[in-house]
Amino acid sequence: MTRHLGNLPGSETVTSFVGRRAMVGEIRALLGSARLVTLLGPGGMGKTRLAIRVGETAHRAFADGVWLVELAELRDPALTDHAIIDALGVPDRSAESSEEVLIEHLQDKSLLLVIDNCEHLLDACGNVIAAVLRAAPGVRIIATSREALHVPGEHVVPVPPLSFTSSDEGGGDGNPLRYEAVELFVQRAAAAVRGFTLDAENHEAIARLCARLEGMPLAIELAAVRLQSMGVNEMLDRLEDRFQALSTVVRGAPARHQTLRAAVEWSYALCSPAEQTAWARLSVFPGGFDLDAALAVIGHDSLTAQESTDAVTGLVSKSVVLRQVRSAGARYHMLETIRQFGQELLRGSDAELDVGRRHMHHFADLAARACHDWSGPRQREWSSMLRREQVNFREALRFGFDNDADPSVAVRTTVDLRHLWVMGAGREGREWIDKAVAALHADTPLRAEALWVAGWVRQVQGEPTGSSAILTECIDAARRHGDQVTLARAELFLGVNKLIGDELDEAEMLLSGSRAMYRSLGAEDSESLIGLAAHGWLRLIEGDSREAEEIAEECRRLSRDIGECWAATWALWVLGLIGWTRSDDILATAALREAIEIKRELGDWLGIPCCVEVLVWVLAESGQHRRAARLMGANRELWVPIGQPMFGFVTYLQAHENYTATLREALGDAQFEAEHTAGSHLSPDATVDYALGTPRQTRTAASSPLTRREGQVARLVAEGLTNREIAEHLVISPRTAEAHVENILTKLGYTSRAQIAAYVRADHSPDSRPAQSR
Ligand SMILES: Nc1ncnc2c1ncn2[C@@H]1O[C@H](COP(=O)(O)OP(=O)(O)OP(=O)(O)O)[C@@H](O)[C@H]1O
Ligand SMILES: [Mg+2]
Repeated sequence: MTRHLGNLPGSETVTSFVGRRAMVGEIRALLGSARLVTLLGPGGMGKTRLAIRVGETAHRAFADGVWLVELAELRDPALTDHAIIDALGVPDRSAESSEEVLIEHLQDKSLLLVIDNCEHLLDACGNVIAAVLRAAPGVRIIATSREALHVPGEHVVPVPPLSFTSSDEGGGDGNPLRYEAVELFVQRAAAAVRGFTLDAENHEAIARLCARLEGMPLAIELAAVRLQSMGVNEMLDRLEDRFQALSTVVRGAPARHQTLRAAVEWSYALCSPAEQTAWARLSVFPGGFDLDAALAVIGHDSLTAQESTDAVTGLVSKSVVLRQVRSAGARYHMLETIRQFGQELLRGSDAELDVGRRHMHHFADLAARACHDWSGPRQREWSSMLRREQVNFREALRFGFDNDADPSVAVRTTVDLRHLWVMGAGREGREWIDKAVAALHADTPLRAEALWVAGWVRQVQGEPTGSSAILTECIDAARRHGDQVTLARAELFLGVNKLIGDELDEAEMLLSGSRAMYRSLGAEDSESLIGLAAHGWLRLIEGDSREAEEIAEECRRLSRDIGECWAATWALWVLGLIGWTRSDDILATAALREAIEIKRELGDWLGIPCCVEVLVWVLAESGQHRRAARLMGANRELWVPIGQPMFGFVTYLQAHENYTATLREALGDAQFEAEHTAGSHLSPDATVDYALGTPRQTRTAASSPLTRREGQVARLVAEGLTNREIAEHLVISPRTAEAHVENILTKLGYTSRAQIAAYVRADHSPDSRPAQSR
């Protein structure tokens, strides 16, 4: 291989480069028009490696070579020009100023300069780069920095983490090696530990480890080296303190990469005192934050609101805090490594409790506002806020119950978060609400409120008996306190339990009593409307489907009047049941589909399986047996996080059993099982798509008929791999590989592997982009 002009490290001196193919291409393309590209990101994210990689692949475009200038060790900004001159190997002509020497050398060259680690010399780098760009039109520059240079014409390219499985739950689907982070880990582990390979035993733990390390290359390399002394699982256990777990010293690496702590400390040292304080305080957010939340937590004693805003902005510009712009506004988060460093700073300091308390109050207020405003036109917004902030709510509740002498804020918040709990977070809600009830010893109005929420949560989990006991206690308490609203709510949900328990007279009494109370209070809200929907349901169970329909429609109308939509989806569920009872497929399907669509928007993962269940029955009745069986298998998974299906209503549990038998008989055991199993592999979202009958858009290029996995196989075929080699590469059986190839041939109407290769080369290949990082 001919040695190119320049001073990039030779391939023999560096470790293998992993992933980022598309990005390398994009940066090269960008260099066609941009003169200065700054690769931006936190320490250890892979900026230097990426810059060098781009330099290697772009060599041909630069007749005078690619030159790397390393500034990490340079402390004196005045020597920046010298460092560049040195790197370029320009002879010292001391008569001229260093800038003149540099310009003279570069002005008619066609050359790429890679200036590495500018963050601690921003002004000096900015000046010399601006001068070079002015005087030397053939020069292009890639800078790496944790902070932008703000030179005219600068193109900032943030360097994201390597891709990793989005769930912390394990290997994700398919081949773990398709995640860049896993590939890096495996390569470095194989170099560090003789005989190491990725296998069926360890791949899940490794995928999880890479997810926990958020795809940060430096952390992954340190973890891989650490394998010499501990197993992957042990490392996962120890990651609570990642600085400890990854404290191996790697010889040969630059000092700031020998430990993770050193990489973070380098950033910390470059922060102003206000930014350092903010860094520590912001570490209280486990789940990201918006600016309001940040200011609520950091803007006090030593920092004014303005200083706090500036500090957040400063931390963003230094890549300590990462900023994403979403439809709901800007949102910020810290990589876990950086957050843990902040927590260390905070722990044991005077500010620790104060910061925790501020965090708690902020989220308590937010929950209160969401709850107060829930039954209206902003319901969708509030519901997505509840889910977005769930981790922060959890932290606020933990703090409130564990650290605060007075648990009433945490109890209030648990009550206010009830819509989150009953929309599919029942298990978590149950824990908090039971804690809340237990925390209040005195017989206060707040305790009574906690009781009805505790009863409601048990109801959605399918435990009517336990729920009734608590609601009865609540009714007594609410009477004692003269709290009409709580009384109306408790009676309503107790009425539903009576319905479920087939005590229809009692149900009628409670539901109409509750309705009358609501009327006299003049307060229609989601809860009262759910009571109305339940009344319709009761009529249906009593056999009066006409009146049931009228009540359900009235519920929808009233819900529309106040601009809410969640209670309306329960009325739609009742309409679905009415359609099913009357064998009116059209009514049932339309109502259930509409309910499912809205519930998906709201994230109501309790309501969705309730609707899907009825849809399964309707499909089974109308002879769509395979579809019904598949959807049944899928829906079973949706019940898992909730508890007993269909509120534990025996009639419906029996209907489920009957339809299972019907489907088994119609399809035969083998086919029923096959469909049911296929369904159980669908993701929640795919289940909803299937229920709605909108086949999921293949996640691949729209023009390609191939699935993502088939696309991978096609590319490997194009690379000349045999079925056996493909199987090895993708960690699947040779038979599966063969089946994929057969499918590809059939779908494309081809007969040979050569045709597949031609197809891939024509760039029809789906998913040629790397897996999306989070
Ligand atoms: N794509 C990659 N393939 C293989 N190794 C990588 C990749 N990206 C980063 N690494 C490795 O991860 C470590 C950190 O990467 P790098 O030095 O590029 O980080 P950086 O962003 O430049 O950090 P700093 O801000 O501290 O200079 C290095 O050992 C590097 O070799
Ligand atoms: Mg670097």
